[in-house]
Amino acid sequence: MPADTDLASLEELGTARLAAAASSAELAAVEAELLGKRSALARANAGLGALDAEARREAGRRLNEVRERLMALVAARRTELAAAERAGRLDAEALDLAEVLPGPRRGHLNLVSQTRDELEDVFVGMGFAVAEGPEVETDWHNFEALNMPKAHPARSGQDSLYLAWGEPESTLLRTQTSPVQIRVMQSQPPPIYAVMPGRVYRKDTPDARHTPSFSQIEGLVVDRGISFADLAGTIEVFTGAYFGENIHSRLRPAYFPFTEPSAEFEITCTICQGAGCRTCSGTGWIELGGCGMVHPAVFGAVGLDPEEWSGFAFGFGIDRCAQMRHALPDMRALLDNDIRFISQF
Ligand code: DAH
Repeated sequence: MPADTDLASLEELGTARLAAAASSAELAAVEAELLGKRSALARANAGLGALDAEARREAGRRLNEVRERLMALVAARRTELAAAERAGRLDAEALDLAEVLPGPRRGHLNLVSQTRDELEDVFVGMGFAVAEGPEVETDWHNFEALNMPKAHPARSGQDSLYLAWGEPESTLLRTQTSPVQIRVMQSQPPPIYAVMPGRVYRKDTPDARHTPSFSQIEGLVVDRGISFADLAGTIEVFTGAYFGENIHSRLRPAYFPFTEPSAEFEITCTICQGAGCRTCSGTGWIELGGCGMVHPAVFGAVGLDPEEWSGFAFGFGIDRCAQMRHALPDMRALLDNDIRFISQF
C-alpha cells in the first residue's frame, strides 16, 4: 500500500499529464495508464486485502478519493478537447457559400482573326468560296504573273523581304494576297468566285496606319461576260453587309498592273458617317483597297483566253476594316498583344 506522500505525488503527476493531453486519443491513453487495470492505483487497490480491517477502510477511502478526483479531471478534459476538436473540424470543413471561384480562363480569337471570319462569312453569303495560298511565295507568283516584270516601278511600292532560298531574289514573303489569284486560276477551271484572306509582309516602318505584317483579303471572279458593273455592285453589297446600311462605296480611277481598268475603292468614313472629319481629311470617304478588271496579261500567264473569259479582282486590308469598324486610333495595338486592349473585343 503506497504511503500518503506517494499517493499525493501520483495525483499531482496524473493531474499534470491529463492537463497536457492534447487530443482525445492522447487523453484515452493517459486515462488507461492512470486508472486502468495495470495502473498504480489498481495495484494499490489489489494490495488492500493484505491490510487489517481498520487500515483497509482508511486506505480504501483515500484511494477512492484520488481515483474520483482523477476521473473528474478526465471527464472535464474530455469535454474540453471534444469542443476544441469539433471547432477545428468545423473550421476546416467550412464552406463559404458566398465565395466566387473563377472558372478556367479561356482566351478568344484576336480581333484580326474575328474580322477575317466575319469578312469570309459575308462573301460566302454572296456565293464566294474561300481559298488560301502560301506566305512564302515565288517572285513569279507575287510579281511576274501579275504583270509586274523585274524592273516594274510598281514593285518599289512593295519593298520586299526576300528569303535566302533558290536563285537570289526568287523567293520572298508575299507582299500581297494577289498571288493567290494566280494559284486559284492555275488549280481550277472557271467559273471562279473566290476570296483569299491571309497575311502579307512589307518592309514598312510601323505607324498608326501601317505595320510591316498585316492581313489582306483578295477577291477574284472569272466567268463569261463579267463587267465593271458586276465589280461595282459586288463592292457596294459587301460594304453594306459588313459596315452597315449607312456606309456606301465609291470607285475612283487608279492604277494596278494586274487590272485594267483599275480603281481604288473608298467607303463612307465610319467615324463621321460621311460628314467629314480629321480621320478622312474632311472628305467623308476612307480608302479601303484596290480593284479592277483582270488584265489580259494575267489571264495569259495562267493560260486562260482573255477573249473567252473576263473577270474582276479586288484586295483590301483586314486590319484596316477592323480599324474602321471599331474606330481604332492606332493599328499597332492589333499586334501588341496587350491584354487590356485585346480583351475588349
Ligand atoms: N494587291 C494590291 C495591294 O496590295 C491590292 C489590290 C489592288 C488587289 C487591285 C487587287 C486589285 O486584286 O484588283 O496593294
